[in-house]
Amino acid sequence: MGVTGHQVRPLAESEFREAHDLFRRALLLRSSKDEEWEQSVGRYEPGRVLGAFVDGALAGTAMATTNVVAVPGGRRLPVGAVTGVGVRADRTRRGLLTSLMRAQLDDARRRGEAVAMLHASEAVIYERFGYGVASRSRTVELDRRRAALRASAPVGGQVRVLDQDEAAPILSALYQRCDQDRPGQIGRDDAWWAGQRSWLGDGVMVAVHTDGDGLDDGFALYEAKNDKDVSSLQVHDLKTANAAAATQLWRFLLGVDLVDRVVGRNRPLDEPLEWWLTDRRQCQVTGVGDDLWLRLVDVLEALRARTFGPGDPVVIEVRDEFLPHNDGRYQVGPDGVDRCSDEPQLVLEVAVLAALYLGDQTASGLVAGGRIEARDPAAVAAADRLFAAAETPWCGTNF
Ligand SMILES: CC(C)(COP(=O)(O)OP(=O)(O)OC[C@H]1O[C@@H](n2cnc3c(N)ncnc32)[C@H](O)[C@@H]1OP(=O)(O)O)[C@@H](O)C(=O)NCCC(=O)NCCS
Repeated sequence: MGVTGHQVRPLAESEFREAHDLFRRALLLRSSKDEEWEQSVGRYEPGRVLGAFVDGALAGTAMATTNVVAVPGGRRLPVGAVTGVGVRADRTRRGLLTSLMRAQLDDARRRGEAVAMLHASEAVIYERFGYGVASRSRTVELDRRRAALRASAPVGGQVRVLDQDEAAPILSALYQRCDQDRPGQIGRDDAWWAGQRSWLGDGVMVAVHTDGDGLDDGFALYEAKNDKDVSSLQVHDLKTANAAAATQLWRFLLGVDLVDRVVGRNRPLDEPLEWWLTDRRQCQVTGVGDDLWLRLVDVLEALRARTFGPGDPVVIEVRDEFLPHNDGRYQVGPDGVDRCSDEPQLVLEVAVLAALYLGDQTASGLVAGGRIEARDPAAVAAADRLFAAAETPWCGTNF
């Protein structure tokens, strides 16, 4: 059928649940129960849920929720958080996703969103649409009985355990106090929290840290899991406003009786756990993977929104087959960014620019990896300095 034979349009609200269930089936999950749907419906924004139809029947879907993302320098850019992407297993590989992505990016442009973002189920899906990995995260495993924090790791405050109902009213405001300037951080509204609850289920417990003045400044969502003979605490989410809240929450998790291991998923690459521990090998990094994928929808606006490090400007040529309005040359420097017609010093695809954008990768690393063509070798070190960010990017929020 190729790219013909299907139509894409925004769905009516009455069609949202069908889209939700189509997405769940594409992820090989059962259809939603009524209660799960009630917790998820708030995330479906009228006008931002797209459907692809074959012979009049819904066969694919993609949606976006309106959000913001922090970029180097501290600005928060409006962004569409792309999610709910699925095509019926009997309708794949005939261009439905391609049409959905095109319609969605056109819509993002109309809304004035200079970037779009997503988490990818598979790494081979989205680069063709211009998305690239903009931040990464790691999974850590700690032997609970052997891992201990040094006396020099920050201390102070109190940890209290809440069940999900008790924690629900405070988590949203608390999250907004945590780590918000780090590139890659995004918003979580009430609809996000409700949807997350349905996704994680009822077994989750919440630990909240309070500082010496009685202000809540960090939280951890965790759950016990038994796998063969090993029982573990799975830490789904741990966010803090300062180092003392982080170390006290880790101390708390490492002190929970009856479990052998504490597993932290989706943690920032620069979390200094190894430095806090008396025995650094008790923090085993069992995986490093992609976290946030970004798509620069409007390259000029996106580049202008972040700050750059010191040094000489560099001329880059960006190639963008999927959104050709971005094709062209840009002069990037600490004093600003503009289109230009000078000879390019570095040539790269828009998806590779996403890897530089939040500071996750260096230009020199991408030259070594064959993903940036360095026409002027002197520009590589200059680009390293320009694109470097003060903080390691991390999103850490599923959506
Ligand atoms: C991923 C998914 C949405 C792709 O939908 P689709 O309609 O088959 O995609 P398209 O036909 O538009 O594919 C466009 C191109 O991407 C390739 N592609 C798409 N998904 C791919 C995948 N998972 N693995 C490898 N290649 C893939 C296609 O082969 C095609 O390549 P071509 O242009 O060279 O022929 C669909 O396979 C799906 O629903 N998967 C399960 C759910 C899922 O993973 N959703 C994503 C959540 S982030």
